[in-house]
Amino acid sequence: MKGIVLAGGNGTRMHPLTLATSKQLLPVYDKPMVYYPLSVLMLAGLRDILIISNPETLPVLRALLGDGSRFGLNFSYAEQKEPRGIAEAFLIGEKFLDGGPSALILGDNLFHGAGFPKLLRSARRELDGCTLFGYPVSDPGRFGIGEVDAEGNLVSLEEKPSKPRSDNAIVGLYFYDSEVVDIAKELTPSARGELEITEVNQVYLKQGRAKLIRLGRGYTWLDAGTHDSLLSASQYVQTIQHRQGVQVACLEEIALRLGHIDSQRCYELGERMKNSDYGRYLMQVAQEVG
Ligand code: G1P
Repeated sequence: MKGIVLAGGNGTRMHPLTLATSKQLLPVYDKPMVYYPLSVLMLAGLRDILIISNPETLPVLRALLGDGSRFGLNFSYAEQKEPRGIAEAFLIGEKFLDGGPSALILGDNLFHGAGFPKLLRSARRELDGCTLFGYPVSDPGRFGIGEVDAEGNLVSLEEKPSKPRSDNAIVGLYFYDSEVVDIAKELTPSARGELEITEVNQVYLKQGRAKLIRLGRGYTWLDAGTHDSLLSASQYVQTIQHRQGVQVACLEEIALRLGHIDSQRCYELGERMKNSDYGRYLMQVAQEVG
């Protein structure tokens, strides 16, 4: 399975913050936002990752993340010229995916919770069609919403409904089999001129091949796509990191713990940033792991 991070869009909901920079480069506490979705794909065990963004942001993302080798990953980059919807990622990524299954994550989504790597890996193993993840929210009208029956099976999907049938938001992380590219090709653009990801999921649902995994109360899911949610996400990360003394979405640490890089390399990477807490943390973790 290969991964795609969609870090496109114009971030119009966050103006003026995003007039001259992209949303996914904004800080969530001490790291650029895009680190958080990248960490999720790493924890799912993926190493080949396509980063999609607009033509202005792509060179900046490339300068920030490089070819991925410092995290033991292989990054590819591709442009989304206009924000034509989440599902366009599969048209842009067709060659990269090369007929295989994929995990798509939105560049402003942040996940945290014990057991998440295990959950992601079992979802990968059991993938048949598409796997969506649900999370209870207090403002369901802002999201894709999934309704489930008494057995927990997904029965309906709606994008930003005015009268939500449940509070179960579909989060911005999606696992698909190899058919997703053909499904995306058949879509007609919505009234806003976008290829909606909810429409892709509807096709799998109609085929009886859409599974929903509900992330319970032990998980945190935040999207940092508004001023308030960006601040909440920063405060959340700050609180956890200060309390526990461990980093959230520290890509070099994840690479070390997964065995993608050795402790010497991790130490060197930290040393380059030793004026920051992040750099010193990397040096400390490298010494602990040894
Ligand atoms: C998108 C999806 C929506 C999903 C949300 C998660 O909405 O269309 O179904 O629930 O991401 O972050 P957007 O944030 O692009 O409005």
